[in-house]
Amino acid sequence: VLMSEDNSRVTANLPTGERVEVLLYGATVISWKSANGKENLFLSSKAHLDGSKPVRGGIPLVFPVFGPPNKNHATGQLPQHGFARNSRWEYLGKTSSESSTLPNSSGDSSVKLDFGLSKSMIDKTNWPYEFALTYSVTLSPKDLETTLVVRNTGTSNYDFQTLFHTYLQIDDISQITVSGLEKASFKDKVQGGDAEAAGEPISIGSEVDRVYNAPSEQAITITENGEARFEITRDMLSDVVVWNPWIEKAKGMADFGPEDGYKSMICVEAGSVSTWNNLEAGDAWEGGQRIKALS
Ligand code: BG6
Repeated sequence: VLMSEDNSRVTANLPTGERVEVLLYGATVISWKSANGKENLFLSSKAHLDGSKPVRGGIPLVFPVFGPPNKNHATGQLPQHGFARNSRWEYLGKTSSESSTLPNSSGDSSVKLDFGLSKSMIDKTNWPYEFALTYSVTLSPKDLETTLVVRNTGTSNYDFQTLFHTYLQIDDISQITVSGLEKASFKDKVQGGDAEAAGEPISIGSEVDRVYNAPSEQAITITENGEARFEITRDMLSDVVVWNPWIEKAKGMADFGPEDGYKSMICVEAGSVSTWNNLEAGDAWEGGQRIKALS
């Protein structure tokens, strides 16, 4: 594990060649490379990495509200997607599982990086509750796991939503299908309103912004040219957002680049966002995702 010189990021490498890089700003995973050097996450060429704006790419963390907050809700004064992605987190340390020295062992090892954020570290959250968040990023050969633990350290109950806003890097959006959501009804943020389950895998040829209700047990597979590239499994996260801004929306985002970058990204975001999680004083909630890079 390497801390950068300016204390802005943490990088971990596995003996098998995989690598992950996490910015303390937002505890945003900004790079995840497979052993063959292939980057699995899309990061906009115009992304701000200096803490001036949430990162456009990688895995920004949404908490405690998804999307623009409703003014009448307790999260009403927060920015879109909450404050976790634009707060500086603390690096709490790493846990490694060492590779075995026994003959015939696979030699696999993994490393878990832990990050923390609590009420005292936030300037003006405009959110009156006490919390302690622990975010763990675990790198293993072939997969990356992100887990969030939310502890209510205060004396009143509160509602929260959370989501891993994962930007997957792909070669060509026209060759992508997302399967596992065939039976899921969804909220269509482009067309407006609720839609019935489509019954078939998703392919993308225009702007897509949908919130699928999909039980955690259902794995999601992202296929390119008929070949499985990523598999996402979830724990306690029963919504999946599928987002691609397409041409006009991409142009409209000052921090989105290159201009045709929408062709090489797809956001498949595991979260708990269609309802509120009510967390009682003293209680904790844990949810996570595992993304397997298959090719
Ligand atoms: C997605 C939302 O999760 O995030 C979209 O469904 C939104 O509606 C997108 O446009 C990006 O949000 P932001 O705040 O990072 O520009």
